[in-house]
Amino acid sequence: MACSESHPVYTHAAVTAASNVASGVRKLTVSYSVPDGVSPIRPGQFFMLKAEPSGTLLCRPISVYHAETVTPDTAAVEFLILKKGTGTGELCTLEAGGAVTLIGPVGNSFPQPERGPVCIVGGGIGVAPVAGFAESLEKETYDFYACFKTGSYGLERISARTLTVTTDDGSRGVKGMLPAVLTVRTLREKNYGAVYACGPEPMLAYVRDICAEADVPCYLSMEARMACGMGACLGCTIATTEGNKRCCADGPVFPGSIVRFPLPQEATRRGSCTDGAEPDLSVTIAGVRFANPVIAASGTFGYGGEYGELADVQSLGGICSKGLTLEGRPGNSGVRLHETPAGVINSIGLENPGIPHFIAHELPQMLALKPVAIANLSGSSIETYVKGAQLLAGTDVPMIELNISCPNVKAGGMAFGLDPCSAADVTAAVRKAAPRTPLIVKLSPNAPDVVAVAHAVRTAGADAISLINTVQAIAIDIEKARPVFANVRAGLSGPAVKPLALRLVYDLVQSMNRLPQRERIPVIGLGGIATWQDAVEFIMAGASAVQVGTATFADPLCMKHIIEGIGNFMRRKGYRSLDELRGAAQTE
Ligand code: FUM
Repeated sequence: MACSESHPVYTHAAVTAASNVASGVRKLTVSYSVPDGVSPIRPGQFFMLKAEPSGTLLCRPISVYHAETVTPDTAAVEFLILKKGTGTGELCTLEAGGAVTLIGPVGNSFPQPERGPVCIVGGGIGVAPVAGFAESLEKETYDFYACFKTGSYGLERISARTLTVTTDDGSRGVKGMLPAVLTVRTLREKNYGAVYACGPEPMLAYVRDICAEADVPCYLSMEARMACGMGACLGCTIATTEGNKRCCADGPVFPGSIVRFPLPQEATRRGSCTDGAEPDLSVTIAGVRFANPVIAASGTFGYGGEYGELADVQSLGGICSKGLTLEGRPGNSGVRLHETPAGVINSIGLENPGIPHFIAHELPQMLALKPVAIANLSGSSIETYVKGAQLLAGTDVPMIELNISCPNVKAGGMAFGLDPCSAADVTAAVRKAAPRTPLIVKLSPNAPDVVAVAHAVRTAGADAISLINTVQAIAIDIEKARPVFANVRAGLSGPAVKPLALRLVYDLVQSMNRLPQRERIPVIGLGGIATWQDAVEFIMAGASAVQVGTATFADPLCMKHIIEGIGNFMRRKGYRSLDELRGAAQTE
């Protein structure tokens, strides 16, 4: 590969070969047309890659492992891909015949050595770019050190003077890590002209330190998260003695002498369980015990029976009914659902049979199920909320969720939840009407100060808070040049709202934690939860339980998987109970 300037292309490329080279590591060969005048790929450069189709927005930076020109206008590039998350996971499922989106080549390259021999170091997947670089050197002018956890890969084209492999588990080569085979003394004895390295940060910091001590120049290929790969997003800057440098446009290869490594990461937190005991997923909220913290959100699970044939309803912690009003409602006319790339906008308009019908027909079915039945109470005025609450208080329903956050009705609903005073008024009235029924109040993210509303309803008598209901949103039908929904505004839910919901839960729990213990009330988190990891995030932010809504539409079994996932996570991390997990990510 020549060392002339190269220019990136943005293209769709065919996967021409794919194979697993180690556990979780896949080799992909992709082939693409190289436009006229575009120079070859240089060693050390990388591409931004994404599987087609993909559930991720952004491409992932992947180093070139090997590149060749197949015909004057076609390049074939090999990548080694380590499955780390969703994006790399998708790339790792590709087979020959698949396709990728590709932007590149981007970044600088390893400088050619001024004198040999040189030392090349690759750690784990970091072997890929340095192996590509080794190919550009004369045979046997370098020593190659490759360090893995277990086994080895990516070494088939290495023609080094010496190839030294280390593995953490001793499955190949020397048992141990880089310091077992490369030290200041080795650098001096071998009289290396330069060291080139790519791998995990602690390994690079070690290489930098021994090179500084032995006075050998070193070049490190750095990794960072990035959005564009073009130097625009500034998401991938690393700290250097010369100020911030962009990993993509100024790197990825930097002289080791200028790189400032971050301080060591804080140790990973673990729970207190060391005896392998089964984790306890139960949670008690306002005196009501839930077998686990996963509750079906209002409006997404009917009254439990709707999903009876499909989902494992009995495994849930709780089920919230559809929003109920004193009198039955037909709901809104016109479009009621509109899908967005990461969610759903709804304008159902609280269609429900009315509370007397609910009490006579749906509630008995809900009470016959194991999950805690929660009646979601809505209204158009304080009087209708109060009358509804009185009726529910006369039943065995174990909990009421006061809905002051529905954005789709002209009177009541969210109108009560935007302002702390009106939210407190309706909460106090319902509290009085149902004095012995545990009361959750469900808040809107559309309030200017959600935390203030939460504390207003807390002091007005709420036993717990759930948040967030949907985010007010709009969709426009461009053919008709009209809003999609008759009410113009509707409520957005789904993955798009998760980070916002998580932030509000985090903020509320943080402010709750500043109160004396006896004044605090539990927070139930919801908004875009679709996986057990999402649920754990909410619990670590301080949620006592979570509600799952929109995700059930796409995967009726998702709540079952979330419950299992939380349990597996707790077992793996030694968390004995949810109390140990709850609020673990709060920083104050
Ligand atoms: O339109 C609806 O029925 C929505 C209800 C809610 O967001 O609570």
